[in-house]
Amino acid sequence: RPHLLGIEGLSKPEILDLLDRAEAFVDIERQKNRRRDTLAGRTQINLFFENSTRTQSSFELAGKRLGADVMNMAVSQSSVKKGETLIDTAMTLNAMNPDVIVVRHHASGAVALLAQKVDCSVVNAGDGSHEHPTQALLDALTIRRHKGRIERLTVAICGDVAHSRVARSNILLLTALDARVRLVGPSTLVPGAFRDMGLEVTTSMKDGLKDADIVMMLRLQRERMQGSFVPSVREYFRYWGLDEEKLAYAKPDALVMHPGPMNRGVEIDPAVADGPQSLIREQVEMGVAVRMAVLEAVVAGRGNGAEAVR
Ligand code: CP
Repeated sequence: RPHLLGIEGLSKPEILDLLDRAEAFVDIERQKNRRRDTLAGRTQINLFFENSTRTQSSFELAGKRLGADVMNMAVSQSSVKKGETLIDTAMTLNAMNPDVIVVRHHASGAVALLAQKVDCSVVNAGDGSHEHPTQALLDALTIRRHKGRIERLTVAICGDVAHSRVARSNILLLTALDARVRLVGPSTLVPGAFRDMGLEVTTSMKDGLKDADIVMMLRLQRERMQGSFVPSVREYFRYWGLDEEKLAYAKPDALVMHPGPMNRGVEIDPAVADGPQSLIREQVEMGVAVRMAVLEAVVAGRGNGAEAVR
């Protein structure tokens, strides 16, 4: 039962194998040659305890394009609302013999716990502030298609790193592929402990974006800040919001990314989000190809490089 629970633990060849598989799916998608039966007769359940636009819809499309039967569990209308626990919910779905459950949950570690309880493969679609592995894979695929490589690129990850599973998965993946990663943001939102991982950490957008190839902005996750520092929007945008003036600190051919959903005017100026250096829409497109690659690897089994998932 291979799972994809995080980028942590994946080797460089395993990551590259998933990116290469996804790359092939991009071409298939663009030719609108979408009929595949790799997962025909297989069942995929999407179990999202947190809201999602991109991740849930692209996992659904990815499964359907591979021929799987895909069921979206409507958590808000389920017996979770009557108090059924995560594990009881998982065991109930497990009794229907799915081949893979794609899970998003607000608690870090919840997806790994669930994976211990069920008989099928489990894919992490985001757990708390822990990991969002398919987001990091789609970000890497997007970067590689534009820059031709990941190694030796300078990637500035900016904003609310502390609460971001996207940042954590990207840090793990980008450093595994030998990129230079810088973290930029207010000290309350960028834990200094990341310095122990050999990363550069700065509060200054000017210093952090200097010579950057990629500027990756993060959403200010105010829903995860109960009781802690919540910056004012106006102040945050002034110092850490990416506008054209700050983007000019990066290399002239720097590319701008954001996992979405965006808070326009908070962490990113609409002129930059929709500007010529933005890859934000392409990131969404890559999401389908990456999730096809991951589903194929976990469900269709090992061999031919599918060792990329554990
Ligand atoms: N990037 C991302 O995970 O978006 P959703 O929350 O819309 O799935």
